[in-house]
Amino acid sequence: MKLTVLTLFPEILRGFFESSIMAKAVAKGILEYELVDIRDYATDKHRKCDDEVFGGGAGMLMLPAPLGRALEAVGAREARTVFVTPSGRLLNQAYAKDLSKETHLVLVCGRYEGVDQRIIDEYVDDEVSIGDYVLSSGEVAALVLVDAVYRLVPGVISGESLEEESFSGPGLLEYPQYTRPAIYGTMKVPEVLTSGHHANIARWRLKAQLKKTLAYRPELLATAELPEEARRLLKEIATEGGSDEPYTEDPGAAD
Ligand code: ADE
Repeated sequence: MKLTVLTLFPEILRGFFESSIMAKAVAKGILEYELVDIRDYATDKHRKCDDEVFGGGAGMLMLPAPLGRALEAVGAREARTVFVTPSGRLLNQAYAKDLSKETHLVLVCGRYEGVDQRIIDEYVDDEVSIGDYVLSSGEVAALVLVDAVYRLVPGVISGESLEEESFSGPGLLEYPQYTRPAIYGTMKVPEVLTSGHHANIARWRLKAQLKKTLAYRPELLATAELPEEARRLLKEIATEGGSDEPYTEDPGAAD
């Protein structure tokens, strides 16, 4: 996959592309990226990229001409082109998966009050928001989108890691995890996890997922693909009543 990001602040993004898993994927040749400074496509001596909004209103808009030239230069018409904006469709895992199948993804980062609508009409396939809040920087939103997408490209991270996490699998939040030491200060790892009893561990994890989902995202339970065992565990949770720490208790004690 090739990722192209059009921005007025390429330096905000560069560190991400040059670090960690992304850097490895690039070195392996699985991913290719280009960071394009929209200002390089301005033609006046001040490299102006914004102007006032026709009809009045606060703030400035990104000018269509520099952005249009940048989009033409990167081949946006042949690519899947996404504009990150708080007024777009909400990003979710299914949409990230869909984008991960593209051969060329072009992201446009907005600044100021956004971009001239004619650019959206002419080049943009999707307008995407990363959540119901407003950031000052489209670059941060673009990084969230890039991160959600590139890790789903085959070969970037192991299929096993992907299968186990929240939002893949049955649609529940992930269970809590622990590593060494088994006792940290006064806090012990739930005994079941060090028991080596795989069925008990699996049941504990599923129950912990259900509790966490009930506590933080109860609406997900309506659409989650729950195994039969989960229905039984939900009843068990209901009879146990609420807990202040819904997902960190040691159910070994309850068994
Ligand atoms: N730019 C500013 N806020 C944003 C958001 N929530 N999603 C996408 N782009 C943005």
